[in-house]
Amino acid sequence: MTDPENNLSKNETLKSIRNRRSVRMFLGKDIKDEDLKTLLQAANQAPSAHNQQSWRFIILKKEKKNELVNLICEKAGNFPKPASALLRLASRSIISAPVVVAVANSGQLISRGTELFKIDKNTGHDFFRIMEIQSSAAAVENLLIAATSLGIASVWLGVLVLIKKDILEFLGEPQGEFMAVIPIGYSAKQNPGPNKQSLDMVVKYL
Ligand SMILES: Cc1cc2nc3c(=O)[nH]c(=O)nc-3n(C[C@H](O)[C@H](O)[C@H](O)COP(=O)(O)O)c2cc1C
Repeated sequence: MTDPENNLSKNETLKSIRNRRSVRMFLGKDIKDEDLKTLLQAANQAPSAHNQQSWRFIILKKEKKNELVNLICEKAGNFPKPASALLRLASRSIISAPVVVAVANSGQLISRGTELFKIDKNTGHDFFRIMEIQSSAAAVENLLIAATSLGIASVWLGVLVLIKKDILEFLGEPQGEFMAVIPIGYSAKQNPGPNKQSLDMVVKYL
């Protein structure tokens, strides 16, 4: 079998996919507005179920970022140790990053989809909710890979789902669904990241 490492060196897109790593500590150096716009454009370019593009990107810097950190630390105390520790770790990543992109689903597909498919409300809600999550996940991954391609580090913080209601209210998206909080910046240290499983373990041919 061909070495996958070699295949992911074939072109710049594949190299960015290979090089993307979760980075949790950042340098103080700011991100250029133009680079941030590029990342958001890349995220917005993702495929979406029924082309509803039901993602929302909320940008936090400086004071707003600090407010988010305070909120997380305050709520972390309500959880037992492993969860509270992960929430506090997430808050440290947020503090160290110059910019945070939060992603929420608008619920637009859920509300339009049921009518579109003429299916009952419960089935429709479940079906279209999954579609919204998948669409936004594609947008998040686009953003992470685009960031890598520009030498910008990032991490997808999902643990904040634990306090999603508070986060959505803070983001001004109370009707939405929490997807991700992504601190972005320049990496404070080289991070080779965990190894990925070999394809033999995750692929089967029928
Ligand atoms: C849905 C999702 C949620 C995640 N949540 C967190 C998180 O809350 N905190 C964190 O430090 N990393 C989080 N990560 C990053 C993973 O820990 C990371 O992707 C994994 O360890 C593999 O490392 P890599 O991204 O460097 O390949 C999350 C990743 C995904 C896809």
